[in-house]
Amino acid sequence: MAQTHNILILPGDGIGPEVMTEAIKVLKAFESPQHTFQLRQELIGGCSIDATGKSVTEEVKQAALDSDAVLFAAVGGPKWDNARRGLDGPEGGLLQLRKAMDIYANLRPCSADSPSSSIAKEFSPFRHEVIEGVDFVVVRENCGGAYFGKKIEDETYAMDEWGYSEAEIQRVTRLSAEIAQRHNPPWPVISLDKANVLASSRLWRRVVEKTMTTEYPDVKIVHQLADSASLIMATNPRSLNGVILADNTFGDMLSDQAGSIVGTLGVLPSASLNGLPGDKTLETRPYGLYEPTHGSAPTIAGQNIANPVAMILCVALMFRYSLNMEDQARRLEDAVRKVLDSGLRTPDLGGKAGTKEVGDAIVAAL
Ligand code: NAI
Ligand code: MG
Repeated sequence: MAQTHNILILPGDGIGPEVMTEAIKVLKAFESPQHTFQLRQELIGGCSIDATGKSVTEEVKQAALDSDAVLFAAVGGPKWDNARRGLDGPEGGLLQLRKAMDIYANLRPCSADSPSSSIAKEFSPFRHEVIEGVDFVVVRENCGGAYFGKKIEDETYAMDEWGYSEAEIQRVTRLSAEIAQRHNPPWPVISLDKANVLASSRLWRRVVEKTMTTEYPDVKIVHQLADSASLIMATNPRSLNGVILADNTFGDMLSDQAGSIVGTLGVLPSASLNGLPGDKTLETRPYGLYEPTHGSAPTIAGQNIANPVAMILCVALMFRYSLNMEDQARRLEDAVRKVLDSGLRTPDLGGKAGTKEVGDAIVAAL
C-alpha cells in the first residue's frame, strides 16, 4: 500500500539549516512507490523571532499537530541569547512545541555501535571491552516532575516541587514497555527511582510495577536505584541493556551520562514521543519530534563543516518510531556506519570532509 508521510521540517538557526539539508537529501533517497514524503518547512527559534516576533507561531504548532512527524535541527545564537529568555527566547519555541505536542517521553538510544563502533573506539573514554555490546535506550519522562512543579524562590530559601501523578507514570511506562516488546531480541524495562528516600519515587515504583505486571507480563521489569544505575553505567554498562525508564531529573542525568559511552554528543540523535504507531491507548495520533542532541553551534555555521550525522540519524529514528519503517531505519544506520568507518568524517571527528560530502556519501552508501 502506498503511503504519504507528512513531515514538518524545522531547520532553525546556526548550523540547523545545513545539517537539515543533508537529512532531507537522505530522506528523499528512501522515496519509493510505497513511501513518499510530503515536506513542509517552517520557522522556529531565532529566525522565527526575526520574522514574526515569536519563537514559534500558533500556525507552526498546528502544523506539527497535523504532521506524521517533525524533524527539528537546532535553535539559538548570540544574536538572541542575551536579549530574550524563557518562552520568548529561541529555545522557548522548542519548549512550546513540546508542550503543544505533549511529547512526554524523550528517547536517547545509546550503543557501542552508535553511530559506529569505530567512533566509539576512538572517542569513548571507556576501554573497548567495557562498552562492547552496550545497547540501550534511555526513556526520560519529559513533561512532569521537578522541572515542571511549583517553584518558590526567595533570597534565602528555594523549593522545586517534584511530583508525579499515577497517569503520568502509567503512560511513560506503557511506552517504554512497547519499545521493549518491539525490540529484537526483547528488552527488559529497567526503571530508575529513589524509592528509598523520595515519596514520588515510591509512587513511581508502585505504578511501574503494577502497569508492567498487569499489562505487559511478558516484559521483564527491573527496579534500580538511580544513583547505583549511574555507577553501573560507568562500570558495567552492558548490564543495563534494555529500556532505561526514568523520571525527568534522573533521566536528564542518565541520558547525558549515556553520551559519555560514545564519547561525543555530536553524533547522537534523540526522539520525543507521545506514543507509537498502533498504540490503542492513545486519544490522539502519536506525535514524534526528532532532534540531534547538539545545539546550533553558531561559531561554525555557514562553513560547510558541521557534522550532519546526528541529524541524519534522526531520520532513522523517525522511520523506527513514527513511520513503521524499521527496515529502512536499519539500512540508514548501516549506511552511516559504513561512511564513518571509511574515514569520511567532518573536522569534529578528526576528518576533513565537508557537511555536504558526508551527506552525499551516506546517500551513495544507501
Ligand atoms: P552546541 O551543541 O551548539 O555546541 C557545543 C560544541 O559542539 C561547539 O564547539 C560546537 O561547535 C560543537 N558542535 C555542536 N554540534 C556540532 C555539529 N553538528 N558538528 C560539529 N560540531 C558541533 O552547544 P552550545 O555551544 O552550548 O550552544 C550554542 C547555541 O545552541 C546556543 O545558542 C544554545 O542556546 C543553543 N542550543 C540549542 C539547542 C537546541 O536547539 N535544542 C540545544 C543546545 C544548545
Ligand atoms: Mg541534559
